[in-house]
Amino acid sequence: MKELLTDASNRAIRYLGGLGSRSVAPAPAAVARLGSLDRPLPEGPTDPAETLRLLDEVGSPATTAMAGPRFFGFVIGGSLPVALAANWLAGAWDQNSALYRSTPGTSFIEQVALRWLLDVLELPPGCGGAFVTGATMANLCALAAARHAVLDRAGWNVEADGLVGAPPITVVIGAEAHPSVTKSLGILGLGRSRAVSVPVDNQGRMRAERLPAMSGPTIVCVQAGNVNTGAFDPVERVCRIARAAGAWVHVDGAFGLWAAAAPSRRHLAAGIALADSWATDAHKWLNVPYDCGLAFVGDPHALQAAMAITAEYLPTQSGFRNPADFTPELSRRARGVEVWAALRSLGREGLARMIEASCAQAQRFARKLAAAGFEILNDVVLNQVLVSFGDAERTMRVIQAVQDDGTCWCGVTLWQGRTAMRISVSSWATTEADVDRSVEAIIGAARAR
Ligand SMILES: Cc1ncc(COP(=O)(O)O)c(C=O)c1O
Repeated sequence: MKELLTDASNRAIRYLGGLGSRSVAPAPAAVARLGSLDRPLPEGPTDPAETLRLLDEVGSPATTAMAGPRFFGFVIGGSLPVALAANWLAGAWDQNSALYRSTPGTSFIEQVALRWLLDVLELPPGCGGAFVTGATMANLCALAAARHAVLDRAGWNVEADGLVGAPPITVVIGAEAHPSVTKSLGILGLGRSRAVSVPVDNQGRMRAERLPAMSGPTIVCVQAGNVNTGAFDPVERVCRIARAAGAWVHVDGAFGLWAAAAPSRRHLAAGIALADSWATDAHKWLNVPYDCGLAFVGDPHALQAAMAITAEYLPTQSGFRNPADFTPELSRRARGVEVWAALRSLGREGLARMIEASCAQAQRFARKLAAAGFEILNDVVLNQVLVSFGDAERTMRVIQAVQDDGTCWCGVTLWQGRTAMRISVSSWATTEADVDRSVEAIIGAARAR
């Protein structure tokens, strides 16, 4: 065991050490070699060391360097070394971190991580929280709590009786809501297409003056950080209007919620604490390994009512918080461990520096690409930059050429009818030199096309 785990650690260290100098996208030949892993299932045991060697030699080169400093697709953080190390240790602990009585260590650590998160994200200290797989599941959990609460107020127990015959719930979303919100609404029986959609402005921000009149059980979903522009809905104003109508406000802040941790961006999140529930990701801007999303709910009982179960064989009775009382999963890994390690290691100042650095780097991208004559389509308020290189075809050609070149990786999007390169800066590992190298590669690709 010792040799195998030492070998795994050496291989991982070698892999991470090579990320800065390899192509960000895997070479087509490396992807083609994956076929060598697709053999008939061995009838008998095979050597674990040989299995690991094959995985590393064939698997590692076929990965995309998402953990490296120049991956700017989607919204992808790397893993802080301390978060990865904590993840390894927690993997070795192999705790089924569902219930306090059977896993007191990881349950306790998760509780501390939750308190620290509420502190740095400037959310009410009494919130309930769920450590789940990502912001999609966090949206689902928070909206399940919302569904519980608004129907409970109408005298309906949705967990017991379902939605058949329930008082109707009005759901209000911005026209730019992330699809994970509508997916969650669909899973919860509230319909992917049934929500009232509020028009947005040219940055994708909900126009609060266009909110519908609200009465009865109502959930309003706002966004902190548009996946394309990084823009925030006017959360404070929406909260005040919704509050007056007795509606529940949910904030999808998959990456934007972290703005609260950075002094120069905090204004974007003003009033966010007035909402009732929030979703975010730790695997994005906190730079912990996948998968780690977080749901927070102002009234912990609403989340618990939607999620907790009991069974004769489960030691659910506990004076201490059971992690699984707040999540859809019963068996679950101890995600709180790497969150705790990342926050302890960064401290409030280190976290602020990391978020500020990504934002400054996004502005550096925008400034340099604009100076080179390319059009920046969004106001760069956070860590997202949208770039046009002309018409859709040319922009697509440039993006493909950048990905093929391998210096960096940027994705494509369609922003209000315009095809754009989407640059998202979220990694602790990215430096100004990485931005400059990437800008050079992008300009080179654009000039050649
Ligand atoms: C605003 C927003 N909400 C939700 C999600 C979904 O997050 P996840 O992929 O972690 O489920 C994303 C992903 O980028 C996002 O940007």
